Amino acid sequence: MCGIVGYLGNRKAYPIIINGLKRLEYRGYDSAGLVVMEDDGFGLVKTKGKVSELEEKSKFLNNGSTLGVGHTRWATHGEPNDVNSHPHLSNDEQIVLVHNGIIENYDSLKTELIQKGFVFHSETDTEVLVNLIQYFKDKENLNLTEAVRYSLNEVVGAYAIAVMDKNDPDEIVVARLGSPLVIGIGDNEFFIASDASPFLEFTKEAFYLDDGEMATIRRDKDIDIRKIKDNLKVTHTVQELKINLEEIEKSGYEHFMLKEIYEQPKSIRDTMRGRLLVDEGIIKMAGIWDYQEKFLNAKRIIIVACGTSYHAGLIGEYLIEDLARIPVEVEYASEFRYRNPIINRKDVVIAISQSGETADTLAALKLAREKGAFIYGINNVVGSSIARITDAGSYTHAGPEIGVASTKAFTAQLTILSLIAIKLGKHNGNLSKERFNSLISELDNIPELVQKTLENTAEKVIEISEKYKNATNALYLGRGYNFPSALEGALKLKEISYIHAEGYPAAEMKHGPIALIDENMPVVIIAPRTGYYEKVVSNAMEIKARKGQIIAVVNTGDTELSKIADHVIEIPNSSEEFSPILAAIPLQLLSYYIAVKLGRNVDQPRNLAKSVTEEKKI
Ligand code: F6R
Repeated sequence: MCGIVGYLGNRKAYPIIINGLKRLEYRGYDSAGLVVMEDDGFGLVKTKGKVSELEEKSKFLNNGSTLGVGHTRWATHGEPNDVNSHPHLSNDEQIVLVHNGIIENYDSLKTELIQKGFVFHSETDTEVLVNLIQYFKDKENLNLTEAVRYSLNEVVGAYAIAVMDKNDPDEIVVARLGSPLVIGIGDNEFFIASDASPFLEFTKEAFYLDDGEMATIRRDKDIDIRKIKDNLKVTHTVQELKINLEEIEKSGYEHFMLKEIYEQPKSIRDTMRGRLLVDEGIIKMAGIWDYQEKFLNAKRIIIVACGTSYHAGLIGEYLIEDLARIPVEVEYASEFRYRNPIINRKDVVIAISQSGETADTLAALKLAREKGAFIYGINNVVGSSIARITDAGSYTHAGPEIGVASTKAFTAQLTILSLIAIKLGKHNGNLSKERFNSLISELDNIPELVQKTLENTAEKVIEISEKYKNATNALYLGRGYNFPSALEGALKLKEISYIHAEGYPAAEMKHGPIALIDENMPVVIIAPRTGYYEKVVSNAMEIKARKGQIIAVVNTGDTELSKIADHVIEIPNSSEEFSPILAAIPLQLLSYYIAVKLGRNVDQPRNLAKSVTEEKKI
């Protein structure tokens, strides 16, 4: 995944592009580049490395130019280096292009272009596209818009692109298929970006280009939007974005991840806002209510997701089966899409995705739709690709999540899944009025408990992180609702600290992993007071007998496990259904502080990107 940004208007383009790229860096950060239109042609700089390096090398471009585009890259074709960085120029150096996505048939197109005399300098698929545009422009004597359209009709793959022509200082052409692109509209000025963060201080008026559309943006003219396939004119309604700039800045925190961890009382509250109406004794969710017969008559619910969202799905399975007694299956989207799954018309398929752009989740959902299932989305990014193709859905409203490691999106997903499970349980008669009321008032109080958890656990977690920062392995154990918590805790640790960690159901220890236990193995046991608490205590004893170091996440006032454990982290008491939300907090903090102490790049861990919008990677 990459980030693209562009500007056409009356202001200096350079600072808008550089600052925009900094905000989009979460989308990819192995190289960056930009081009501004100068009096004598393109001013182009690109480099391997971060946007700060680009800024150092490109300051001289901060001139009067009012048109330009920039790119921050996460490599897919060709290693991160200066040549492979975007923007890419056509052979005649008349056309320049930035691209987020993958041109799948680039190899055959490249071969054809080479036969026609084109030469290639980079290993990228993008350079093929820019030369294809030149080819059609010259051969058919087309203007830039037409040449882009001709070319895109030859292309198989996913893209959001922005293209400029050296001979036209008043125009940018953009297009999208499978990668996001939003167009911001100011006073005689236009912004384009992969998300709205680069232009929020200038305008909140914007619209999202739909898949298969392209737009020609001209100075002092209305935007001309067309279908790429048949050139049919399209209109879009400009909407006012409900997102604040402060939300996407660090607000004094050292890292976005820490800010996002601390935002959770608010993000969970925002997720419930307008939905959980405790005084009226109702859960209002139009996406569920309008299609209640689909859910209530569902033979089963299949949840598809990846990574942290998959872990949320696993907890969703416990919630929905427990509270609504509807059978649930949870699948990695990447497996589901390729394994010829049995999907019936009476199935409801729920895709959980923070970004709403994860390629595997999107493909799994499309497959489910083809097979006639009702498809539902739980997404955080409004207007994302998944949100747009689903029959219905619920946004998590956690606000932008910039840190690559997902934190607040996870607890927001758990909140939505709790709301859905409780609502369905009420409507299909599985929950008594009393139980329903008690669950909703408890859920309503979760943001306060999350706040308390943050206040009461941080110090202890910092102490523990100092002790275990040099561990090379870690085990995370849990049972029931907190088995997925263990998986998620382990994922958080490995992705940002690069310490190998495994999550296991506590009782599975004796079937193999217990062989790993010795005095150097930290074992995080998530054991709030639940029906199987005593069993987890027994598992802990087995670990202690082998000298494992136990970090226990227990309820306030715990007496048994606390006696065995080397370190105790107390989370507030709650029903088991909501305990994963509370348990997530110290686990997120633990991974954060260990990573910080190890000097890791917490917000942009190596080899990762915020959302995986391509299947192929180098
Ligand atoms: C882990 C993480 C990833 C994502 C996964 C799915 O912290 O962020 O595992 O959860 O890539 O992403 P979304 O939810 O955007 O589909």
